[in-house]
Amino acid sequence: MRTIEWNPQNNTVQMIDQRLLPGEFRVVEFDDYRQIAKAVTEMVIRGAPAIGAAAAFGLALAAKQSTAVKTKSLKSDLFDAGLVLVAARPTAINLKWAVDRILGLVRDSQVDCDALRSFVLDEAQRIADEDIEINKRMASLGAELLDDGDVVIHHCNTGSLATVDWGTALGVIRTAHESGKRIHVLVDETRPRLQGARLTAWELEQYSIPYEIISDNAAGYFLSSGMVHKVIFGADRVAANGDVVNKIGTYMLALTAHANNVPVFAVVPTSTIDISVMDGSQIPIEERPPEEVLGITLNGQPISPSTAKARNPAFDITPAEIISAIVTERGIVTPPYRMKLKDILQERLEES
Ligand code: MRU
Repeated sequence: MRTIEWNPQNNTVQMIDQRLLPGEFRVVEFDDYRQIAKAVTEMVIRGAPAIGAAAAFGLALAAKQSTAVKTKSLKSDLFDAGLVLVAARPTAINLKWAVDRILGLVRDSQVDCDALRSFVLDEAQRIADEDIEINKRMASLGAELLDDGDVVIHHCNTGSLATVDWGTALGVIRTAHESGKRIHVLVDETRPRLQGARLTAWELEQYSIPYEIISDNAAGYFLSSGMVHKVIFGADRVAANGDVVNKIGTYMLALTAHANNVPVFAVVPTSTIDISVMDGSQIPIEERPPEEVLGITLNGQPISPSTAKARNPAFDITPAEIISAIVTERGIVTPPYRMKLKDILQERLEES
């Protein structure tokens, strides 16, 4: 199934509960947009494009939930819901992108309440469907960057689970694999929430792609030994200058790859590019609860003293200078990024 979808039988939003994988595959169902916002915050669903789709379906739920009989009141309810959904997680721009896209159309619409409710759902559905098309386009472009026999390091989870389906960076690996290239993936476990060890490994099992999990701090060893040909990851937000904000640990990985002359690729739908921020330093970095770091146990025991404190930034900033290429659905962009990213966003705007 898709990571997230609308269930027309009972007008609910269904999503895979990613907190439970790989131990349990459970689908949960929500009928209130506030529950969707909570599910995003608690990472029932995660990954930038997936939470963008969640926000879009959240607005569709808000439209159904609203008791408004006048269009003006329905619009006002939708704008209120938009604020709640955008606040669910601060770093990935896809949340805001999806909400702005729908609310921009809502603002200009002249239709009655029922038509507006259907319109919001149709647009959310379009966002979800487009996500898959975009991922497949990025995947076939990006697969050209991978060669038969490549060993690649992949960070976090960027597969079907991080999107509506197919994935960004992992989608590239999957398409390369399906085209017959032998790709071996070294899966960064991705502490503290272990999206690599839990989710990416689970997906690679489904696709029969060979892989081994490595601890995040082993990446340097493999990169300096000449055993790795490429490093590939996704992004939660890309600034106008090409700085990439992605899962914590991406910066150390990219830096080490760069120091060892290993190409570094970010695979990013244009909905993740935010040209309103000049560079990565202006992007808010989510700091998550310390329990995510301290809650890990070893041999049934907590890993640290009960009074230990921890810091838990969920993302970091990889400077554009050490990224070899950014793969988008509109082509592969190479440095210098600023003008090229601006042009592709302009191109998208003109086509919409
Ligand atoms: O905190 P998460 O699991 O939502 O972080 C996800 C990532 O960092 C992914 O690499 C990113 O969203 C791009 S993948 C589509």
